[in-house]
Amino acid sequence: MRRVAVLGCSLATLLLTSLCEGAEPDPHPGRYLAANCTGCHGTQGRSTGAIPAIAGLDRTVIVEAMRAFRSGDRPATVMHQHAKAYSEAQIELLADYFAAQKPL
Ligand code: HEC
Repeated sequence: MRRVAVLGCSLATLLLTSLCEGAEPDPHPGRYLAANCTGCHGTQGRSTGAIPAIAGLDRTVIVEAMRAFRSGDRPATVMHQHAKAYSEAQIELLADYFAAQKPL
């Protein structure tokens, strides 16, 4: 019986903790979307290779680049395909995230 009570309390704590965590706004909701980009653009967008680093770029530059890739106005090898997969709101979240990252 005591074990059940202990388990009950742990579960309650777990539930409360996750509820409390849910109440904290994530400062970077775009980070989850950004995971799709970091394979090429480097951790947090700090690429050191041939693919351009995007960490710390101006937010507007990122948004405009994504729109131009999506519409085909800016020629690209791969980015036109990636850009098409994101909504305007998602592009803004991605731009917020990468603009807030420190460049190398
Ligand atoms: C498969 C590798 C790959 C992935 C994944 C990728 N990119 Fe790119 N990105 C590139 C390449 C290569 C370029 C250069 C343009 C081109 O050839 O497509 C580029 C260019 C860019 C540029 C322009 C940078 C500049 O300096 O002008 C931005 C902004 C950008 N990517 C954002 C993103 C975002 C945001 C994501 C995730 C949604 C992403 N990329 C995912 C390869 C990738």
